Amino acid sequence: MTILNNIALEIISDGKGILAADESTATMTKRLDSVGVSSTSENRLAFRNILFSSESMRKCIGGVILYEETIRQSYNSKRIPEIISNMGSHIGIKVDTGAKTLAGSPHEKITEGLDGLRERLKEYYNLGAKFTKWRGVYIISQKYPTKLSMKSNAHALARYAAIVQECKMVPIVEPEVLMDGSHSANECLEKTSEVIKECFSELMLHNVDLSGLILKPNMVLAGSDSGDKISSDEVAKLTLECLKNSVPKEVPGIAFLSGGQSEVEATENLNLINKYNNTKFIMTYSYGRALQQSALKYWSNNVEDTKGTQKIFNHRAEMNTLAAQGKWSKDIETAQ
Ligand code: 13P
Repeated sequence: MTILNNIALEIISDGKGILAADESTATMTKRLDSVGVSSTSENRLAFRNILFSSESMRKCIGGVILYEETIRQSYNSKRIPEIISNMGSHIGIKVDTGAKTLAGSPHEKITEGLDGLRERLKEYYNLGAKFTKWRGVYIISQKYPTKLSMKSNAHALARYAAIVQECKMVPIVEPEVLMDGSHSANECLEKTSEVIKECFSELMLHNVDLSGLILKPNMVLAGSDSGDKISSDEVAKLTLECLKNSVPKEVPGIAFLSGGQSEVEATENLNLINKYNNTKFIMTYSYGRALQQSALKYWSNNVEDTKGTQKIFNHRAEMNTLAAQGKWSKDIETAQ
């Protein structure tokens, strides 16, 4: 087993998942604005530190993805990476610099951040990072994503992954086909499969060790404006069909993004994916909103109540860890 494969497995094995706490300052400001908290560096740190010090970190969260600002912060004189690794979790870092307008197809995006990446990675490694994240984002409709968007984003993801492995860290490869739009679930299946296949074709071309990466895809869903919400059962079956046909067997695991699903939806869908999983891939979570939303809402009204906020976060993490083993149920969800 290679060192990278070993780290990947430590992050996602035994029902463990990933806490995506890597919202850029602009995104975190939107999240905090939505609950009426001002987005100061202190407030961003205070909320995140509550999550990182929660008990569920020990048994549920194998890795935390941080934003550039957070990896350098300290709380009560303790460095954030140290707080996280003391909870037994690996440190991850978002290394792309965001999705910008794709020249040649201005409705689409290309993710940037390759210039100077090797130097930044060395610094993150010295700060304790063991894994990284890069997100490519794709809109979907009859004519999107274009070949240009698929090829250029796959190329950037592969160049990123190759440099990250050279720097001895595990790359999370995140091609996200957005939920926005009126497309059907079958269209999402078709386009997501195409996007993922293009990524692996580029990853192989760049000699990336597929056993030392984690794929972070969207689940297969009908578009949020389609008025055609499909059942969790169908989501699970279509998502498995997509991944079985597009992910090489060397990949150790798949950690889904939540992408705008509600907290319980994201848990229920992951649970069924694991119940039906007849592949060798580990299937777990790498959720941002679906792990943090309720905790953030509670905290915004009760900023002094660390324990109460942690209780809500712990519950979500525990529910998702059960789902990552196919052991979640609605009764367990509502039992407490
Ligand atoms: P969501 O789970 O909120 O979609 O965030 C996951 C993520 O890391 C997006 O890049």
